[in-house]
Amino acid sequence: MSLKNAFCSAVGALFSIAHLAAAQVAIRPGEIWLDNQGQHIQAHGAGILKAGETFYWFGENRGRSLDPNQGHISCYASTNLADWTFRGNVLELSAPTNFGPQLVLERPKVFYNTPTKKYVMYFHMDDARYQMARVGVAVSDTVDGHYQFLKSLRPLGCQSRDIGQFVDDDGSAYLIFEDRPKGFHIAKLSEDYLTVEKDTCLFPEHLESGALVHYDGRYYVVGSHLSGWAANPNVYATAKSLAGPWSKFKDIAPPDKKTYGSQVTILWKITGEKTTAVIFMGDIWKPNTQWDSRYLWMPLEIHGEQMSLPAPAPWTLDIQTGAARFLELQPRPAPK
Ligand code: GAL
Repeated sequence: MSLKNAFCSAVGALFSIAHLAAAQVAIRPGEIWLDNQGQHIQAHGAGILKAGETFYWFGENRGRSLDPNQGHISCYASTNLADWTFRGNVLELSAPTNFGPQLVLERPKVFYNTPTKKYVMYFHMDDARYQMARVGVAVSDTVDGHYQFLKSLRPLGCQSRDIGQFVDDDGSAYLIFEDRPKGFHIAKLSEDYLTVEKDTCLFPEHLESGALVHYDGRYYVVGSHLSGWAANPNVYATAKSLAGPWSKFKDIAPPDKKTYGSQVTILWKITGEKTTAVIFMGDIWKPNTQWDSRYLWMPLEIHGEQMSLPAPAPWTLDIQTGAARFLELQPRPAPK
């Protein structure tokens, strides 16, 4: 091939990549993310559930207020993880039949229980000073229907603040929870998912907002240090078995970047026809204007025991193939 032809086909290939990327809706970490009604998505501290071909995103709907009684748990739906349709508020914080006033409800996580055909939601339930340290459990017959409050509990008799969710490839469901005196639990749910049955692993490290993924024969757990709304360097560890032994915790990104201003909430694996992407889903909290808090969703780089969160940049996900691609082509060295 002549130099000119090679140049033309390279430009053509670049153009078609850019064209393909433009056809898919980009995920833009840190920017305002609009739903189908043109509103900034209100689903902070996210949990994700896939039902059929649809993804459901549950989160804290913080509205335009800092009053906890004005908050709700929202639900959004998508088939590509980029375009989200608001499906409604599925749980109200202040409804008298629920919790009563002044309670905090955070980080909702919904699991679908096949034997009972119920959608089971766990959430962090607390008082305004975060001393109650319990989980709430609510159930619904439909994924985006009204969730009825069932009970609150201290899992395994322990304090529980930030929670995370994980469903393993064999369908077992786990609640991850932060227990101030003891550490960080990965705990198996009962068969009907209505209670927390036993610890699979208890880390002595004090980490919160725990997230887990099983990828290519290894488990990866990610957590944040305890610094309230302020971002800190999130860390990860790996193991071949959920019960361990686990590697030492390492930074997921350069520590001075403080996880690019975010805090992990869930890791989500997309197994496509060609490849598998693991997505870091995190929150960029704005404590004084919580409704304006943003999301940082990025494909993770994973090589064996190493996992890293790249610097935020717009990207697209091909849900069919599993390919994640950055929108802006990285600058290339000039040809010699
Ligand atoms: C963070 C936690 C948030 C929220 C906040 C309140 O540590 O991850 O979900 O509870 O504290 O200060």
